[in-house]
Amino acid sequence: MTTVKVVCHRHYEDENEWSCGNWLEYTLVIVLATILLLGSLGLTLFWVINYHGGFAWQEDPKKQFNLHPVLMVAGFITFSGFSILLYRICRCCRRIYVKLLHTIFHALAIPCVALGFLAVLDSHNLANPPIANFYSLHSWIGLVTMGLFAIQFVFGFFSFLILLCCEGATAGFRSAMVPIHASFGLTTFMLAIAACVTGLTEKVMFKLGNRYSHFEEEGYVVNTIGITLIALGILFGYILHRDSFRHRPNVLIRSPDL
Ligand code: HEM
Repeated sequence: MTTVKVVCHRHYEDENEWSCGNWLEYTLVIVLATILLLGSLGLTLFWVINYHGGFAWQEDPKKQFNLHPVLMVAGFITFSGFSILLYRICRCCRRIYVKLLHTIFHALAIPCVALGFLAVLDSHNLANPPIANFYSLHSWIGLVTMGLFAIQFVFGFFSFLILLCCEGATAGFRSAMVPIHASFGLTTFMLAIAACVTGLTEKVMFKLGNRYSHFEEEGYVVNTIGITLIALGILFGYILHRDSFRHRPNVLIRSPDL
């Protein structure tokens, strides 16, 4: 009788089929994505420290606002971006470890987003006179992004828990959910980019007004952050749709006694 045995085994044969060009392309896009993820955060920090006087908490609501862009970029772009990228960086690790790291990186984004949100709420409510809340397109995009992120996190977390409790019984359900979770994950990332770009535009217009059209130095810095984020959106779309970059730790091999 012919039986087929599934063995957990690194996919060396497949890896070896990759040509030099494939490796070059893979390395290039992953390194570029890493530079852009860290670069967008670094540039945002540089912008608020150099042009907006750094950070404070409730004693100075104007400077408290500065925490908002930095923490939102850290949470929604850098941590969430690495969390997604892990599925392409750790191609040969056991999937359970990749899932654990994916959850940890997303969990790290939560305090950043919560504090970033609190900072902008305080900076509006404690201003003298107080500033209205949720009037702008940016704030609406931001709310949708945070809502989707929360749904995705709760859903992903519970799928991970049921994976730990009853792996076999829930395999069908979990694998049916993977494409939905992945597609909404990319949507959330793109929406976060849209929120950041609209937020940056709004802030630079508030501060520079007409001077924005006179090619002020700060305008260049803000535009560079925006383009870095747009480049991330394009690159992530490419990386996630490139089939050969996918995670493939297991191979179906025939039992040697056959
Ligand atoms: C994914 C990232 C972001 C999310 C989810 C987000 C979310 C929000 C939300 C919900 C508000 C409304 C707060 C209120 O009305 O009390 C807000 C306000 C604001 N945000 Fe963001 N934000 C993000 C990134 C940024 C960035 C990078 C900037 C750049 C400076 C920025 C600039 C602003 C400004 C100027 C306001 C006050 C004016 C307004 O309500 O539109 N945001 N943000």
